[in-house]
Amino acid sequence: MHNQADALLKEEINRLKKENSVYIIAHYYQRPEIQDLADFVGDSYAMAVAAKNSPLDTILVAGVDFMAESAAILCPGKTVLSPEPAATCPMANSIDVNDVLQYKDTHPGSLVVSYVNTPASIKAVSDICVTSSNAVKIIQKLPQDVPIFFIPDENLGKFIAGKLDRPLDFYPSCCPIHNAVTRQDILKCKEEHPGAEVLVHPECTPDVIALSDYVGSTAGIINYAAKSDKNQFIIATEHGVMHRINQVSPGKDLILAQAGLTCPNMKSITLDKILNSLKNMETIIAVPESIRSQAAVALERMIAYAC
Ligand code: 13P
Ligand code: SF4
Repeated sequence: MHNQADALLKEEINRLKKENSVYIIAHYYQRPEIQDLADFVGDSYAMAVAAKNSPLDTILVAGVDFMAESAAILCPGKTVLSPEPAATCPMANSIDVNDVLQYKDTHPGSLVVSYVNTPASIKAVSDICVTSSNAVKIIQKLPQDVPIFFIPDENLGKFIAGKLDRPLDFYPSCCPIHNAVTRQDILKCKEEHPGAEVLVHPECTPDVIALSDYVGSTAGIINYAAKSDKNQFIIATEHGVMHRINQVSPGKDLILAQAGLTCPNMKSITLDKILNSLKNMETIIAVPESIRSQAAVALERMIAYAC
């Protein structure tokens, strides 16, 4: 019954998507049925680039608010729709513009590097954005002799600082989902599955990262599992990635590091909400031009430095 209802919803979504010429971009943490009907599925960096290169003038972003905002910032001539504008990222919202301005005041000549998981207002006062797929590469290209304020994910910041052997200043925040994975969770999984490789998102704690075989973005984790000759993986990121791993690497055995690895904001987007969004062509994500143009500098710089 549920499957039949979903099939009807998908049919109607596909009809309206064509009729209204809408390009759907989804994140790997989206529900499987949403990933399957999207025109493009990716990590947060690939989503931003896909929005910029969208073949259509209306883009529906199935992801949390900063992802839809990034599309709106990068595509001023396009219409960006969110099926659930209340879907947000608590870590992104944890930092205030004044926190950034205060740092800049007290650290003249410093650079502010913001994780893409930030609101447009924070990007607008940042020098450059990064995602987990490109942060190390980008920060490596920045001047060596200036203080860097890395915001807002302290876990990701510590991972980058360790990789580059360069001190960074952090903001005390983290993703509540990834931060909840413990060293004990990983040790228990390893004991139960001694041959498995441990694949970890860099939003996890340094303790967890220390036990990993691979650390990377959602796309990085999916690609690593596909290329590895191992058949069993302990996954320390939101369970949505398992859908794509199962598609591209069928038959591989996936063990979620901890039962709580669900992002409720990502999962608040449903087929019903996507249908409603396409029917009413809402909710349009608009970023005030004074903020958009400043935030675009930081996002475009990220794309240029990531190449
Ligand atoms: P990715 O850039 O790896 O897709 O991560 C986004 C995110 O929100 C992780 O929690
Ligand atoms: Fe934000 Fe964490 Fe959800 Fe990613 S998983 S969107 S960082 S709360």
